[in-house]
Amino acid sequence: MVDLSTNEDAGVYKISSEIALVQTLDFFTPIVDDPYLFGAISAANSLSDVYAMGGKPLTAMNIVCFPDNLPLEILAEILKGGADKVKESGAVMVGGHTVKDKEPKFGLSVTGIIHPDKILTNCNLKINDTLILTKPLGTGILTTALKKKLITEKDIKECITGMQFLNKIAAEIIQEIGVNSCTDITGFGFLGHLKEMCLGSKLGADIYPDNFNFYKHAFKFAEEGIVPGGCKDNLKEAGEFVNFSENVSPALKFLLSDPQTSGGLLISLDPGKEEECMGLMKSKNIPAFIAGKVTGDKIIRVILP
Ligand code: CO
Ligand code: CO
Repeated sequence: MVDLSTNEDAGVYKISSEIALVQTLDFFTPIVDDPYLFGAISAANSLSDVYAMGGKPLTAMNIVCFPDNLPLEILAEILKGGADKVKESGAVMVGGHTVKDKEPKFGLSVTGIIHPDKILTNCNLKINDTLILTKPLGTGILTTALKKKLITEKDIKECITGMQFLNKIAAEIIQEIGVNSCTDITGFGFLGHLKEMCLGSKLGADIYPDNFNFYKHAFKFAEEGIVPGGCKDNLKEAGEFVNFSENVSPALKFLLSDPQTSGGLLISLDPGKEEECMGLMKSKNIPAFIAGKVTGDKIIRVILP
């Protein structure tokens, strides 16, 4: 039902009129020093693509690369972080595979299920829809600052907690109220993933960045130009499709283009459901905010008053 031909979050294969399989895989090198946290963040990131399709994860498998000159206790901690996240998701860890490699890498292959009529694609925006994002932005910038030793893990606790946070409850809320489109924000950053949704739906969007949540300290580093290479690439990629109002600062442009690890869900829903959705998100302590609205103009306008 969903394959490589569109830029969806996961593949979907119909088994019967009631059940379709949702399959996804993701893994990467450590973005934090603590091995347990790295495992948990990577697992939350891998599970997210199933949630972004509206699915429920069933089983997970570890994908591991590990050097033979590092103590095995580190590997055990990474795997424990991943296993605890899988448990929290309600899925079951059923196996995995490890290969020797110079740099550690970890992630999951996740299989989930979904009702074939309830698949949430990223190309079904409707004019006037409200756009809601469920997590702050800035993970790429902050983990870059961490790598450069400009900040400590303790100082970016909010961001680390956010990256570990499963998109599970947000996904349950949007399935309950019914939305038009959904994706999760990852490597292409907010604007990149929104552009994908707009192109797929042949529509555009007005974005209000003064309404956005950013992780603590992210703005400061963006102002200093401490941003990952992907951030600049994403901003370039946004190209003519994104029009920034004149008072949008370079730092804000970076934040809106920042590649995210385990980012939030970007949801497009009927404006009549906006209040209910935001109310449910707040009641579950999800830091969701209204990012903007869908327009018929085939361009993204980033508007600051
Ligand atoms: Co995704
Ligand atoms: Co992915």
